[in-house]
Amino acid sequence: MRTLKDFNAAGKRVLVRVDFNVPIKEGQVTDETRVKAAIPTLKHLLEQGATLVLCSHLGRPKGFEEASSLAPVAPVLEKHLGRPVVFVGGSPELTPASEATLERVKKAPPGSVILLDNVRFEPGEEKNDETLAQNLARLGDAFVLDAFGSAHRAHASVTGVARFLPSYAGFLMEKEVSSIGKVLHNPEKPYWVVLGGAKVSDKIGVIENLLPKVTGMVIGGAMAFTFIKAQGGQVGKSLVEDDKLELAQGLLNQASDLGVKLLLPTDVVAAQKIEAGAPTRIMPAGAIEADWMGLDIGPESARIFAKALEGARTVLWNGPMGVFEVDDFAKGTLAVGEAIANLQGAFTVVGGGDSVAAANKLGMAEKFSHVSTGGGASLELLELGTLPGIEALR
Ligand code: 3PG
Repeated sequence: MRTLKDFNAAGKRVLVRVDFNVPIKEGQVTDETRVKAAIPTLKHLLEQGATLVLCSHLGRPKGFEEASSLAPVAPVLEKHLGRPVVFVGGSPELTPASEATLERVKKAPPGSVILLDNVRFEPGEEKNDETLAQNLARLGDAFVLDAFGSAHRAHASVTGVARFLPSYAGFLMEKEVSSIGKVLHNPEKPYWVVLGGAKVSDKIGVIENLLPKVTGMVIGGAMAFTFIKAQGGQVGKSLVEDDKLELAQGLLNQASDLGVKLLLPTDVVAAQKIEAGAPTRIMPAGAIEADWMGLDIGPESARIFAKALEGARTVLWNGPMGVFEVDDFAKGTLAVGEAIANLQGAFTVVGGGDSVAAANKLGMAEKFSHVSTGGGASLELLELGTLPGIEALR
């Protein structure tokens, strides 16, 4: 990828694609991680003497809707950047590629920071429409892609615009690609991958791609029940993908052929409802009673998983061990997260929104070598080894 080392931004108006797809509740940004992650690139460009035009999506709106405006992000950006931000948006006339927006951008004094509204208000964005890409390209003299979290989307503001402007990867994009590249291409062994989350179907590609490279894999979260049922276990009402049982058995066979340890939970925290305060019982993971479901790994599994990770030199963690949003079912995720965070001298990468939230909840995010800002993007990079956004910068 061409990077900021190859670019002198002095006197240029730079269109920067960031990923400010952040959670917003009642007009307030509730997690500022993605805004903070963009700051090093933005400060660098400003120090060089650039004018910045920032572009992002937020949620999945169908055309203009006020509730999906990026307006609430502007004050957060101002706070972290330590300088004023001009927000251009908030109405159907001021969508990112409109003439009215272009006029305002052109009038902004040099050195300004302009935040455009949600680029998904443009109907051509997700279709990677060429005219939209060209219109977006009018907003800058150069393009910097720093939206790692969106780099798996071949959309107009991510890949399309790179066809019309000199284009470079921002610092966040570089750091994400090199950290994930390290666990993909040069992991020091022992190398363990810890996977969780609801569905095995989301992670099949990652498992298949990583199995030949790892020392072992830990599988928790509801996706473990598809493996447990495939082996003949009783999983009660736990979430299972019945159409993936054969595939799960195939992955277990593949792991055993490769001599890779694949650890599944031996016990679970079970309940009859996914609800705070619901009565819970610890049950064997392969003998869950009919009306019960496994909602977290149990204490024995947490111990076995932590023990397996001891001495690891590389760990990749993606996905929670249980229904982490409910405190009663968060202990397994926190225990495994803590075990990874406390590994001495290991290169540890966390990806996926939920495991990142767990890392933040532990107050341990800075103890991991790299906490990815991408959910889908990090999975796709782990699976395919590249992303549309990376290719666009080549
Ligand atoms: C994310 O939050 O994973 C990215 O911002 C991409 O969002 P999307 O799945 O709506 O494309």
